[in-house]
Amino acid sequence: MKIGIDKIGFAMPKYYLDIEDLAIGRNANPNKFKKGLMQLEMSVSPVSQDIVTLGSAAAYEILDSSDREKIDMIIMCTETGIDHSKAASVFIHNLLKIQPFTRSVEIKEACYGATAGLNFAKNHIEKNPDSYVLVIASDIAKYGINSQGESTQGAGSCAMLLKKNPKLLILNDDNVFHTRDIMDFWRPNYSKYPCVNGHFSAKQYLDCLTVIWNEYLKRNSKTLEDFEAVCFHLPYPKLGLKGLQSLFPESFTKEMKDKFLKNFESSIVYNQKIGNIYTGSLYLSLLSLLENSNNLKSGDSIAMYSYGSGAVGEIFSVTLAENFKKSLRIDRKTEFSKRHRLSVNEYEKIFFEEITVNEEGNFDLNNSDDSIFSLEKIENHKRIYKSNIKK
Ligand code: HMG
Repeated sequence: MKIGIDKIGFAMPKYYLDIEDLAIGRNANPNKFKKGLMQLEMSVSPVSQDIVTLGSAAAYEILDSSDREKIDMIIMCTETGIDHSKAASVFIHNLLKIQPFTRSVEIKEACYGATAGLNFAKNHIEKNPDSYVLVIASDIAKYGINSQGESTQGAGSCAMLLKKNPKLLILNDDNVFHTRDIMDFWRPNYSKYPCVNGHFSAKQYLDCLTVIWNEYLKRNSKTLEDFEAVCFHLPYPKLGLKGLQSLFPESFTKEMKDKFLKNFESSIVYNQKIGNIYTGSLYLSLLSLLENSNNLKSGDSIAMYSYGSGAVGEIFSVTLAENFKKSLRIDRKTEFSKRHRLSVNEYEKIFFEEITVNEEGNFDLNNSDDSIFSLEKIENHKRIYKSNIKK
């Protein structure tokens, strides 16, 4: 049975910061961010947007009423949880009006979570061939004002619908995964921002890639030439480029390298405008590749490198389905152009605003957010969401 991703949806907040403005605001050379990290813009999320609203909007983009009747599992993958107990997917289940006999959970392992989510979804469909599973990767990456990682922040969500005989791509059975206990990036429960050992984390990302890639080639008797493209977890695009270059065997000609480099360019178009979205970053890159490359055809294989700090990494491959192009949007770029560009002062005010409940556990956002889903208020410690879906 062929199992894979039928559709991918994406949602981002309506604000962004131009990375050049950030560089000027921080007295840094803009080329450090634009060339050194290959980042151009960063998505900025207001307090009325969280993993639930972004995740719901990403899923809303792709689901029709028949999908809502067939989905029987929603897996939220995030490291920006809004509650230590209740899974964010339970809120999403309600906002999207998914049929009631559904399993809803949340899983975590830094940026790797969504890859585990896809595997769990695949196993579920193997046992229940008529099931549809919604896997949502939703995160808001904040490192703090003037921090070393500030230029790699971002916010957004990817929603993936998995089923048998998918229209977009098939998940192959060739996964190789790897765990190593390191402290490269972590987020203690008591801390607002992550603890980051920046240069060490980049080194670990690249070292895990080498270790897993070599094992992947050995176990699956493959070479890089079996693929048309490689997609990477992209904390910032330059690290993915370094990763790709590290995979080129010495025997590779310029022509062979150029094929991969061209597809790499397509795979970073969206990430360069969004920044790091942790769990969703690899899948945003995949969406970017599929919607921006003009040299892919059905049957082509793409290698995927997932990395989550801590660390867990995985390499697996996907094969493009027949007529996969019909499952993609051609107008996504207009969504980016509708965003509102913030000044550095506005960004600092909006991105770092916090929810502070009063003694009764209330906080009114005075919500004027016209997004399809938004957080309206906290009432007696309960998050109340607003849906602008027209009945
Ligand atoms: P930094 O230390 O301030 O920057 O922050 P830098 O000095 O290393 O410079 C960055 C690059 O710009 C360098 O290129 C410079 O040479 C270059 P490289 O040597 O690396 O090729 N540069 C310039 N280029 C052109 N013109 C100039 C110029 N100036 C400098 N004028 C750092 C960089 C990555 C440390 C920081 O952004 C950070 O801490 N980021 C957060 C951590 C991170 O993203 N780590 C990535 C791997 S871990 C991961 O992927 C997991 C993660 O997503 C979390 C999760 O799993 O949940 C983060």
